[in-house]
Formats: sequence, structure tokens, C-alpha cells
Amino acid sequence: MHFDYCRVRSFKLVNCKYLLLLSGFLLTLSGLFISSEMYATEDAPESMFVATDSKNPADQTGRIMGVTAADCKKCHPSEVASWMKTVHFQSPDIRLYKFEGNTKKYATAMGLTSAELLGDSLCADCHGTKAIRDGQVKVISGVSCEKCHGASGGEEGWLNRHQSYHASMPVPRAEETAAHREARLDYCDKAGMNRSANLYGLSKACFQCHLVGNEKLIAAGHKAASAFDFVSWTGGELKHNFLVDKTTNAAAPSLWMERTGGTAENRRRMKYVVGTLVQLETALRLRADATNPAVIPQLSGIIAAANGQLTQINALVPTPEVQAVTALITPMFGTLFAPLPTDKETYSAAADKVAEQAKQFSQNHNGEQFSNLDSMINRLPPHYSQQYQEKYLKN
Ligand code: HEC
Ligand code: HEC
Ligand code: HEC
Ligand code: HEC
Repeated sequence: MHFDYCRVRSFKLVNCKYLLLLSGFLLTLSGLFISSEMYATEDAPESMFVATDSKNPADQTGRIMGVTAADCKKCHPSEVASWMKTVHFQSPDIRLYKFEGNTKKYATAMGLTSAELLGDSLCADCHGTKAIRDGQVKVISGVSCEKCHGASGGEEGWLNRHQSYHASMPVPRAEETAAHREARLDYCDKAGMNRSANLYGLSKACFQCHLVGNEKLIAAGHKAASAFDFVSWTGGELKHNFLVDKTTNAAAPSLWMERTGGTAENRRRMKYVVGTLVQLETALRLRADATNPAVIPQLSGIIAAANGQLTQINALVPTPEVQAVTALITPMFGTLFAPLPTDKETYSAAADKVAEQAKQFSQNHNGEQFSNLDSMINRLPPHYSQQYQEKYLKN
């Protein structure tokens, strides 16, 4: 089954002054009534693209974030419906709006009030999406599409270009010229879009939140890390591969499979290795900044475990990239658990090298040769949150 998005005319931001004016007015109105109830309704409040001059502090790329799922929904309805069942969608409701239990404990330790949690707070970096609304930083949604796929709005953003198969005319996907497609995808990559093809960028987004660096927060009792692996954690409630057929949640991104001929099996193998490399990279970056003797062992434990997994991977399928990484990390074990004044340089430099190898690995391989990894990967069942299991799986 083919979709035909191109009937929906893309519109350029620059031609959109009236919509922006109107949306400014609507947002001002809606700002008066913002409440957790409103936030949690089936349809997130309809918002328009944010003005191009606004800067969102939550967006590490410095690009504009704030296009909500409501804007993706007209073309990606099944993806949005699937996302609305996840704990990512619910997180602000269950962690930020209710100032009680552990939320209250962690927030109080960080000196944050109930009202501050819903503004420009540390908690909202991971438990939601922040954007500028009415000139103020606000939580506009749960962990949004843009948090993983990259900020999309603004004149330089990928939103308008990523779905446009012809510069001026609506044409179906099959009729896009190869040159246009190449230019379009290249534009999206440079604009910071994490497409399915970019396993490095996608897994990096996960670890930005699923590894917690803030020492004060960890000391207050917050988890330092999720028991995360990129294969099973993308295989459960998160999976939303509906692009080619809105009614089928495919085992791997459907458009990516169609376009590259890649298989779900090979993708899992690639995810397993790239995800482990990026976990290692992220833990090394946090280790570089860590000073608290209670936090260092936790991060070092993650580094050691990831390196151990890579050593096993390397024994089953030797590749130059993974070999280079384990050869770099293993000799560091002598001082891994000891805080040293040189930690910052040592671990930042190591993280940069691991990042380089992870990117190389994703470019140089496609997983076809890696069937030896399947015994390790098959041990990882799809992961669902407790909330999801209770609501959707247990009856
Ligand atoms: C006007 C319709 C439209 C809107 C709005 C839209 N998309 Fe898309 N999206 C498409 C089409 C069409 C494709 C397939 C593009 C292609 O063939 O490369 C696509 C592809 C994608 C892909 C997969 C790209 C790949 O190469 O694997 C992602 C991810 C994506 N969109 C995310 C989003 C997000 C997030 C939003 C909202 C911020 C959004 N889209 C809004 C139509 C749209
Ligand atoms: C770097 C990202 C990050 C930051 C910052 C962060 N969290 Fe979390 N938080 C997470 C993740 C990820 C989980 C889920 C961990 C899991 O289940 O694997 C979580 C889980 C929680 C939980 C449920 C588990 C528990 O310990 O009871 C609460 C409550 C919570 N966070 C509150 C907060 C509050 C309050 C703040 C701010 C003071 C905050 N978080 C800041 C990422 C973050
Ligand atoms: C902006 C931060 C953020 C990003 C990016 C992010 N997550 Fe999460 N994720 C969270 C938080 C916070 C929770 C816990 C929500 C809660 O309990 O409040 C969570 C929970 C989950 C859960 C449910 C876990 C459980 O057992 O409760 C899964 C699965 C998950 N994330 C997978 C992923 C994957 C895979 C990626 C990357 C493709 C990713 N997440 C990216 C913040 C994030
Ligand atoms: C927590 C991170 C995360 C969030 C939030 C997220 N995505 Fe994705 N998305 C991914 C990952 C990872 C993949 C690749 C999945 C895989 O490898 O199985 C993906 C794949 C896709 C694809 C390609 C599907 C296909 O069949 O080709 C589309 C389209 C897409 N996402 C759109 C969206 C939209 C729209 C939203 C918001 C409603 C969204 N995503 C929210 C991480 C996320």
C-alpha cells in the first residue's frame, strides 16, 4: 500500500506570516488555560510552527524545537497514535504535574518548586519537551518526536523539505528523481534530522536522557542510568514503523527497508553494536565531568560493562572499529574507578575516539555478516514500561 502525502501541500515558513500571527494569538489564549488536563487530552493543542527567531534552551543543536506531534499527525497519524500510548508521552503528567513522591524528593533536593518544574527546569529536559511559548520557556509536550528525530521547524529546519518530492509540484514518492531525493536527504541530514538510516544519531538521542549525568540529582536518589539497550528498548512500546503501511507496525522502519533493501534482522545486529558503542561514548563523556565519589563507580561500571559487551561482540564478529575501541578502553581499567585531575581530558578524548569509530562502523557495515551475534541479540525481548504493560498488555 502506498501513501500519498504529497496531496498535502507543504508550506514554507516564510509564506506563513499570517499563520504565525494567528497562532501567536491562539497561543496567547491557550496559555491562559494551560493545565495538565489540557496537556493530556487525546489531541495535543494545535500549535503552529514557532517563529524562526526563537531559541529553545533544550535543543542541544541550537536549532528550533517546538513543532509538536499535532503537526506531524496529519501525515503520520499511526506514529502519533502509537507514541501517545508510551510513557514518553505521559512523562510530564506522571512526573512533573504531580508534585509528590520521588518527584517532590528530587525536585526539592535540586531547589526546584512545583511551578518551576513546568518551566525551564532540568527535569523537563528529559521528562518532556521545552519550547518558547508566549515569550517563556514552557513544557509543551512529553518526550516529543523532535526529541529523537531532531528539531524540525524554522526556515533552516527539515520539516518542510523532508516530505517534498518536487520543488514546486506535488508528485508521488515513486516519481521523485534520484537527484532530487539525494539533495533532499542530504539537506535533511545537514539540518539535523535523525532519519531511520542514522542509527548513531537516534541512539545518541536515547542516551542523552537514559544516562543521567547530574551528580546532585543522582545523590538525591534519581537513577543514574536505565538498564537500557538499543535493540529491546526500540522493539517494544517505542516501535512505530508505519510509514509505508499505516496499518502495520513493521519490524524495522518500513521506508528504510523499502529504500535500502535492508532487513529487520540485519538492523537489529547493527543496532546492537552501534547502541553499545554510543552507550560507551556517552558514559565516557559523563565520566569526564564526574567528581562525586558515589557517582564515578556507577559510570565506570557502565563503561566496563559496555566494553565487556564489545569484547564479546568482537570475539564473535571481529571488526576493525570495535577492535580499536576495546584496544583503547581496556588499558584504561587500572584508573577507571579512581578520580584523577586528568579525567576530563582522558575521558573526553576517549569519547571522541569512540564516537568516530561508532560513525565509521555504521557507515562501513550493514549487519549481513553478523549472524554470529544473533544468539546474544535473541536474549533481548522487546521492552515495555510497567505503565504500558498494565494498560495495554495485561488483559
Ligand atoms: C506534510 C506531510 C508530513 C508532515 C507534516 C511530516 N511528515 Fe514526516 N514524512 C512525510 C513523508 C512523505 C515522508 C517520507 C519521505 C521520504 O520518502 O523520504 C516522511 C518521513 C519521515 C521520517 C522517516 C525518514 C526516513 O528517511 O527514514 C521521519 C522520522 C519523519 N517523517 C518524522 C516526522 C516528524 C517528527 C514530523 C513532525 C515534526 C513529520 N515527520 C511531519 C510526510 C510528513
Ligand atoms: C538526564 C535525564 C533526566 C533528568 C535530568 C531527570 N530525569 Fe527523572 N528519569 C529519567 C529517566 C530516563 C527515567 C526512567 C529511568 C528508567 O526507568 O529506566 C527517570 C525516572 C524518574 C522518576 C521515576 C523513577 C523514580 O525514581 O521514582 C521520577 C519520579 C523522576 N525521574 C523525577 C525527576 C525529577 C523530579 C527530575 C528533576 C529534579 C528528573 N527526574 C530529572 C531521566 C531524567
Ligand atoms: C528527552 C529524553 C528522552 C529521550 C530522548 C528518550 N527517552 Fe526514553 N524515557 C525518558 C524518560 C524520562 C522515561 C521515563 C518516563 C517516566 O517514567 O516518567 C523514558 C522511558 C522509556 C521507556 C520505558 C521504560 C520503562 O521501563 O519504564 C522506553 C522503552 C524508552 N524510554 C526507550 C527510549 C528509546 C529507545 C529512546 C531513543 C530512541 C529514548 N527512550 C529516548 C526520556 C527519554
Ligand atoms: C524516543 C525516541 C523517538 C520518539 C519520541 C519518536 N521516534 Fe520516530 N523513530 C525513532 C526510532 C529509533 C526509529 C527507528 C526505529 C527502528 O529502528 O525500529 C523511528 C522511526 C520513525 C519513522 C520511520 C518509520 C518507517 O516505517 O519507516 C517515522 C516516520 C517516525 N519515526 C516518526 C515519528 C513521529 C511522527 C513521532 C512523534 C509522534 C516519533 N517518530 C517519535 C525514535 C523516536
